[in-house]
Amino acid sequence: MSAAGRSPCGLPRIGLGTAVQGPRPDAVRAAALRAMMLGYRHFDTAAHYATEAPIGEAAAEAVREGVVASRDEIFVTSKVWCADAHPDRVLPALRKTLSNLQMEYVDLYMVHWPVTMKAGKFTAPYTPEDLEPFDMRGVWAAMEECHRLGLAKSIGVCNFSCKKLETLLSFATIPPAVNQVEINPVWQQRKLREFCRDKGIQLCAYSPLGAKGTHWGSDSVMDSGVLHEIAKSKGKTVAQVCLRWVYEQGDCLIVKSFDESRMKENLDIVDWELTEEERQRISKIPQRKINQGRRYVSENGQYKSLEELWDGEI
Ligand SMILES: NC(=O)c1ccc[n+]([C@@H]2O[C@H](COP(=O)([O-])OP(=O)(O)OC[C@H]3O[C@@H](n4cnc5c(N)ncnc54)[C@H](OP(=O)(O)O)[C@@H]3O)[C@@H](O)[C@H]2O)c1
Repeated sequence: MSAAGRSPCGLPRIGLGTAVQGPRPDAVRAAALRAMMLGYRHFDTAAHYATEAPIGEAAAEAVREGVVASRDEIFVTSKVWCADAHPDRVLPALRKTLSNLQMEYVDLYMVHWPVTMKAGKFTAPYTPEDLEPFDMRGVWAAMEECHRLGLAKSIGVCNFSCKKLETLLSFATIPPAVNQVEINPVWQQRKLREFCRDKGIQLCAYSPLGAKGTHWGSDSVMDSGVLHEIAKSKGKTVAQVCLRWVYEQGDCLIVKSFDESRMKENLDIVDWELTEEERQRISKIPQRKINQGRRYVSENGQYKSLEELWDGEI
């Protein structure tokens, strides 16, 4: 199988996440190559993850070894970090990303957060003094330039609320193709999905398993009693039930696993479905956003509260 098809905007429905804690280039390169062999075609990276170079190396190796015929068969997403979310820094940041990837273009380039940090602020810990006002119009104009130059086949955003998308759409010459946000059974994003569908923006789910085991994640998805019961009765895993649920919403998804058997498991969600009763049970799971972005809130920055960061959608 090949990443379970593509969305109308060309984004493969299932992709491999690569946010890892600490620099692990060898593990990332090996996992990405293994994933390509298993049929993954979408790789989600970001300047901030420091995983661009090993993904580029894995792609080059996959071409050399005939796993894929050419780089064009692989869909690479990367993101401009907050410290480069300044109008004059976006294009140089993309050029650096392309140099890391050793590629001529990315398939999708996204604004990582609707947040600006001081230029050069790439590593934690972040302090309130690192935050600056976010110039959405100027940053998006620079993203559009990246597209016009052919360096980004499409452009999009991450972590945008309905209200921020509305603002962006009011001046964008090129509308965002994708909004990548947290989506899982514990944070279902019904309102945002409806809005995006109406505006022709593809939703892409990050942390579809709740990012268990990471410093930004939680056990609440993988330990959900309802999901365990559904998984047991269907002979599936909890992870598969989560991913299938996201898939059935029409969203694309990116899930991170560097373990071969879990990578296979995570692709095996397309030829079965949830029952209506199971969907109903999942829809009643209490909602709580896991990745709240608390560090982007401060008196000095654009957002003085979480309510402002998410425009009340939290
Ligand atoms: N745009 C943004 O702001 C943003 C924010 C967060 C994430 N992302 C992107 O979204 C990707 C995915 O999200 P995420 O990494 O946060 O979380 P996730 O994919 O929900 O969860 C990853 C965790 O689940 C484990 N896992 C994966 N498959 C499993 C399975 N079948 N059974 C049990 N455990 C499993 C992984 O461990 P193993 O590797 O050991 O399997 C890892 O610890 C990221 O890697 C990144 O590319 C974007």
